[in-house]
Amino acid sequence: MRINFIALLSIVSWISAQETPQATNAVEPDQSGENAEQCTPYSAPIVQDNLGQFPPLWETAKIVQGDTTAQNKYDEIKQVIPSSIKPKGTHDGNISDVSYDASDPDCWFTSSKCTHPKVDGLSDDLATLPEPNTWGLGFDDGPNCSHNEFYNFLSDNDLTATMFYIGSNVMNWPHEAQRGREDGHELCVHTWSHHYMTSFDDEGAFAELYYSIQAIKLVTGVTPTCWRPPFGDIDDRIRIIAEGLGLRTVLWELDTNDWKMINGKTKDDVRKNYQDVFDAAERGIFEDHGTIVLTHEITAETMEMFIEMYPNIRDNFDYVVPLSVATNRTNLYVEEETERGEVFADYVNDHYGSTVNQATSINTNIHPNPTLTGWQGPLATIANPTVAEVEAATEPTTASSSSSSSAGSSSVSNDSGNDDEEDVEDDKTEHKSDDNIPSQKSNPFVYNYPQNTHSNNGASSGGHTSITKPVFTMVALFVVTMSCIR
Ligand SMILES: *[C@@H]1O[C@H](CO)[C@@H](O)[C@H](O)[C@H]1NC(C)=O
Ligand SMILES: *[C@@H]1O[C@H](CO)[C@@H](O)[C@H](O)[C@H]1NC(C)=O
Ligand SMILES: *[C@@H]1O[C@H](CO)[C@@H](O)[C@H](O)[C@H]1NC(C)=O
Ligand SMILES: *[C@@H]1O[C@H](CO)[C@@H](O)[C@H](O)[C@H]1NC(C)=O
Ligand SMILES: [Zn+2]
Repeated sequence: MRINFIALLSIVSWISAQETPQATNAVEPDQSGENAEQCTPYSAPIVQDNLGQFPPLWETAKIVQGDTTAQNKYDEIKQVIPSSIKPKGTHDGNISDVSYDASDPDCWFTSSKCTHPKVDGLSDDLATLPEPNTWGLGFDDGPNCSHNEFYNFLSDNDLTATMFYIGSNVMNWPHEAQRGREDGHELCVHTWSHHYMTSFDDEGAFAELYYSIQAIKLVTGVTPTCWRPPFGDIDDRIRIIAEGLGLRTVLWELDTNDWKMINGKTKDDVRKNYQDVFDAAERGIFEDHGTIVLTHEITAETMEMFIEMYPNIRDNFDYVVPLSVATNRTNLYVEEETERGEVFADYVNDHYGSTVNQATSINTNIHPNPTLTGWQGPLATIANPTVAEVEAATEPTTASSSSSSSAGSSSVSNDSGNDDEEDVEDDKTEHKSDDNIPSQKSNPFVYNYPQNTHSNNGASSGGHTSITKPVFTMVALFVVTMSCIR
C-alpha cells in the first residue's frame, strides 16, 4: 500500500512539476545543470579494482563466493542468532502476510517502535540523547552525488554530522564518501542495498552490513562502528547480527519525513514536521533529553530543506552535534588509534566556546564497547550467557542453526531470492562489455524511494579494467576532494 502510494506520488509530482516551475531554491535538481554535472557517473580505480570482492551494487547482498573472511565472521555470529526469530515480509517491506504477536516478542521497531531489546545482553538502540536541548545531527542515504553545496554549508557552519552511508552509494560515489570523511563527519552504515532488514535471512542481513562496512573501509580507510536500519526495520535477530559486526544501532525519536519531497510536492508538510519539533522544544520537551530527528541526504531537496531550517534548529536547541558527541563516545572507528572523537564537553567548548553542565539525564542506551567486543575480540553476545541461553532454549545444536537459516531463507526469499539470481545473471550479460562504471543511473533511488526494483541494476563484478591501482595517498585524496568542491 505504502509503496503504491509513493509510486503514485512520484508520478503525480512529476506531472505537476511539469506545470509548475520550481520556486527559488539554489540547489534544485537539473536547474543550473550543476547537479547533472556532479552526478555524471565516473570510474574510480579504487572501486573498479575491487568490485569483484563485493556483491553487485544495489542488489540484495549475499556473501561473495570465496570470501572466507566474511564466511568465517558469519559462521562466528551465526552461533548466537536465536533461531526463534524468523525473517519478516518481503525485501520491499510488504508485511501483509506476516502474522506477528501483539506482545512484540522480537522487539520489532516496525511493529511497535521498540528500541529496548528483549534479548538480554543487547544494548538499547540509540533513539534519544542524554544531553538536554541537543539536536543529534545525522543524515541518511548518502553519499549523494549532489551533496557538495550541502557539505559546504555544514563546514561553513562548523557542523559535523553522523552520515549513514549506503554501501552501494559509497561504491558509486567514492569521492563523495571521501569528502564526508575529510570533512570530519562520522561515517556509519546504512546497508548495502537499502532494503527492509528483517526480511533477510541471517546470511543476507549479515552481508548487507558486512559489505557496507567493507565499502566504507575501502574508500575512506576507516571501519565504522554504527548503523541505522533503512525504514527503521529492525528486530532482535538483526540487532544481534549488527552487534556481532561491532555496529551500534541508531534509530530516531522524531521524523521530518523529508524524503517524501519530490519536486517540491510536500515541502510544506516537511516544513511543518520540522516546526512540530521546534514547537516541542518551546514547550520544554527537550529539557530532560536531546533528540534524534530523522533527516536525509537523499536528494538536493532534502539537503536544501535542512539548510532552510537550520537557523530555526539553532534557535530552538542549545547544541547541534553528531551522535557520537551527543553520547559522549570517542571510539568512532575500529581504527581508534588513528582517530578518536571528542567528548561532549570538549566538542561544545570547541564549537560553541562555552562550557556545559554535566548531562542532567543519563542515557541507558550507552553501548558498552561494541567495536572491541564485536569486531576484534570475541562477540559480546557470545560472552553473554543470556543470549547463549536464548539460543539453547530454542534449538540447542549447530545443526539447528543451519536449518534455521535455510528455513528463514525459504520463508522469505523463495520469490525474490530467485529473482535476485536471475537478475545477477542478466546483469552479467548486460554489463559484460560496458565500461565498468558501476550502475547508478538506474539505481532504485531515483524518485521511487523506497520502492526497489531489481531490473537493470547492479554492476558487473567481473571484467576488471587494466587501470593500475593508485597509491592512495592523502595528496590524492586532497586533490580529489578539492576537485569535487565547487
Ligand atoms: C503485498 O502482499 C500481498 C500478499 O502477498 C499482496 O496481495 C499485495 O498486493 C502486496 N502489496 C503490494 C503493495 O505489493
Ligand atoms: C542524489 O541527488 C540527486 C539530486 O537531487 C537526485 O536526483 C539523485 O537521485 C540522488 N541520488 C541518489 C543515489 O539518491
Ligand atoms: C564524558 O566523558 C568524559 C571523559 O571520559 C567524562 O569525564 C564525563 O563525565 C562524561 N560525561 C558524561 C555526561 O557522561
Ligand atoms: C519454496 O521453494 C521450495 C524449493 O523450491 C519449495 O519446495 C517450496 O514449496 C517453496 N515455498 C513456497 C512458499 O513457495
Ligand atoms: Zn534510508
